[in-house]
Amino acid sequence: MTVAVPLSDAVRFEQVWTRFGDKLIHQNISFCLQQGQILGLVGASGCGKTTLLREIIGLQMPIQGDIFVMGKALPKQADQLDLQISRLSGVLFQKGALFSALSVFENIAFPLRELGIADSGLLQHLVMMKLQRVGLSASDAGLMPAALSGGMVKRVALARALILEPSLLLLDEPTSGLDPIASEEFVSLLSELHGELAFTVVMVTHDLDILRDLCTEVAVLADHQLIVKADLPKVLAFPHPFIGQFFHNRRANRVFCN
Ligand SMILES: Nc1ncnc2c1ncn2[C@@H]1O[C@H](COP(=O)(O)OP(=O)(O)O)[C@@H](O)[C@H]1O
Ligand SMILES: [Mg+2]
Repeated sequence: MTVAVPLSDAVRFEQVWTRFGDKLIHQNISFCLQQGQILGLVGASGCGKTTLLREIIGLQMPIQGDIFVMGKALPKQADQLDLQISRLSGVLFQKGALFSALSVFENIAFPLRELGIADSGLLQHLVMMKLQRVGLSASDAGLMPAALSGGMVKRVALARALILEPSLLLLDEPTSGLDPIASEEFVSLLSELHGELAFTVVMVTHDLDILRDLCTEVAVLADHQLIVKADLPKVLAFPHPFIGQFFHNRRANRVFCN
């Protein structure tokens, strides 16, 4: 007889409070995200979405509360963060996605080199596999970031975020700055990779098409709190002024009524 082992949540926040000086950012945030889900995180500019992502990778510490990633409690001090925990997540930040002085190859290889992998044959193999997987060709490996289109930059950053095969992928406004076609291509690539690799995603996005087509759940940050985390129809029906502004305007109505 096989016994089903319950999956631990990919991310769990327990009564998390965040402050910068006397400025309150997060007030008593608690939520669980099951493995394999794609969570879209929305909220007004400056409400603490990026900070929440930074907390998941241990770059920012809450002043109170506990955060668990893949069942492991994050340490309370940055210098206690070990490699094992930081390897659980791959991150694609909105700004400064790539190291501008490094080639595409070296950008993708960076996390491997940091782990101490120096075998050039192995590096070549792993980087080229990922490069191909995100829809780029071997000849792109030698290019410098300045020579890439916006869509290519995001693909290289995604390859780098996935190079260590993380269980959790964190994306901060991944399609901002992309034209609609590049944006759609990036979303279908993400969707394919998610189907194949079954990682969990937390994604900050304002893109209503992404929230509708890709996210399995949507969480809304407002008034320093996570006011709702549910599937999109439930979020749309949740009574709150921010939800009214964000989801019930003419553009949103066009997206959601299709
Ligand atoms: N390291 C920091 N020190 C002081 N204030 C910060 C720091 N990081 C972010 N903030 C402030 O916290 C608030 C939330 O920031 P952020 O998480 O970047 O918001 P969002 O991503 O939702 O736009 C902002 O007012 C920002 O200026
Ligand atoms: Mg942000």
